[in-house]
Amino acid sequence: MSSVRIPAPPSGPLETHYSYTHLSAGDLLRKECHRTDSEFSQILNSCFQRGEFAPVEITIILLKKAMEETMKSEEKFHFLIDGFPPDEENLRGWTKLMDGKADVKFVLFLDCSNEICKNRCLERGKSSGRDDDNSESLERRIHTYVKSTRPVIERYEKQGKIRSIDASRSISEVFADVKSVFDREG
Ligand code: C5P
Ligand code: MG
Repeated sequence: MSSVRIPAPPSGPLETHYSYTHLSAGDLLRKECHRTDSEFSQILNSCFQRGEFAPVEITIILLKKAMEETMKSEEKFHFLIDGFPPDEENLRGWTKLMDGKADVKFVLFLDCSNEICKNRCLERGKSSGRDDDNSESLERRIHTYVKSTRPVIERYEKQGKIRSIDASRSISEVFADVKSVFDREG
């Protein structure tokens, strides 16, 4: 078990409007990867490079720890978990760990074409400092998404949990739709 302490991220719009704590699986993994004494650095680095998902055990440890810290120090019990579960193995790991403990209210699916997504990430890459916001990595990440994440979305769809939003529009339009999902069901 790693002993990283995850600093609270700056509040985003959803955290300001609603009492949800935003946890990004990708951000937690990146922080862990950059931690000098992390036993997982090497393996995480190679996952990022290849555009593949980290082993479920690592992601789950980090998420669980961040959730426990938030519940303990801030007494907040609602989470918006971003970028998770990215594949069926992670979904199995989550179900095993959280069955009966966490209630998944819904899954927000911000849907847009691969091309729009890629162009936005390339634009972000000008200032993000992320090694994987480049054309080659993005092709690999999209490939991984189609192969591994799509089936998870379909599974949640069958359970009636997906709230799909057309994310090809402007930030304010997308946010208005996200907000109405939270107003209705958050
Ligand atoms: O979601 P984000 O774009 O931050 O993800 C970047 C990388 O983090 C992914 O390409 C993958 O290597 C890793 N990741 C993961 N498991 C997740 C989310 C992200 O392994 N649940
Ligand atoms: Mg992300």
